[in-house]
Amino acid sequence: MSERPHILVASPTFPEVIAKLRAHFEVEANEGDDVWKGQAFTSRLPGKSGAFLTGAQTVNAEVLAQAPELKIVANMAVGFNNLDVAALEAAGVVGTNTPDVLTETTADFGFALLMATARRVTEAEHYLRAGLWGKWSYDLLLGSEIHGSTLGIIGMGRIGQGIARRGVHGFGMNLIYHNRSQLDAATEAELKAHYAPTKEEVLEKADHVVLVLPYTPAAHHLIGAAQIALMKPTATLVNIARGGIVDDVALAKALQAKTIAAAGLDVFEGEPTVAKELLECSNVVLTPHIASATLQTRLQMAHLAADNLIAFFKEGKPLTPVTQQ
Ligand code: DGY
Repeated sequence: MSERPHILVASPTFPEVIAKLRAHFEVEANEGDDVWKGQAFTSRLPGKSGAFLTGAQTVNAEVLAQAPELKIVANMAVGFNNLDVAALEAAGVVGTNTPDVLTETTADFGFALLMATARRVTEAEHYLRAGLWGKWSYDLLLGSEIHGSTLGIIGMGRIGQGIARRGVHGFGMNLIYHNRSQLDAATEAELKAHYAPTKEEVLEKADHVVLVLPYTPAAHHLIGAAQIALMKPTATLVNIARGGIVDDVALAKALQAKTIAAAGLDVFEGEPTVAKELLECSNVVLTPHIASATLQTRLQMAHLAADNLIAFFKEGKPLTPVTQQ
């Protein structure tokens, strides 16, 4: 009998998914609390022909040089900025991600964060819990309108379109978006979408800007001081894409100076560390990278990552391979 492939599960995941992998492979699974990354990850790669990752592990030419048997890395995430796709291709290693299964859940959260940000939900809760609520007041914690306002989306893939549908059909918002390519005419008509050839136009015109674009080297600090300065003083900015797209310190300065009204952030440069400048702002809603975090969706993501490994080794082809962005 030929030896079963050896698989590394580098981040803790659902026991049922580890059991599923064990039915097909020899598995070294991280069943503790810490994520194996850096040296803790690379030192376990020799002898493994597949790896189940969560986005916390970087796979580049240097890592691949230490993993000569590796054939596939399966991300339990739709984003794959942790994978150097050119280096994978050069080494003949397949990369996979988990698209589609998280689209609607992530769009739900993007919209929830927009609403919490615009209507100052967490700020209001902190105020109440701090015992500061003395009386009903006509101007207590005034927020910004959502219905009828202009929603700006930068990055109009599946999740961006999900947020757009919620805004346009659910809240009567007007939509302006920027994307590498314009949507087809039927989708634009359905969403009554105005295509902006530049992100600057979205930043200038929108009342609520949501970032949903992939993180690539070109997207690093795409939204910095100069871009934030283009936004309306009443505008809000939501980032559910990746930390690093926004210059968090520049954003904190704008929030403190109130050159924009508020921000909602689920992702951070250098997470899980959050810039102290942001922590000091009251007009920002901060959440710990949970946009896809429902039990059903996280289970589907974990199963899809496992199924990619199984399909690759059984049928020679993964289900959802990544390609260079
Ligand atoms: C994703 O799927 O990319 C989420 O951000 C989780 O990492």
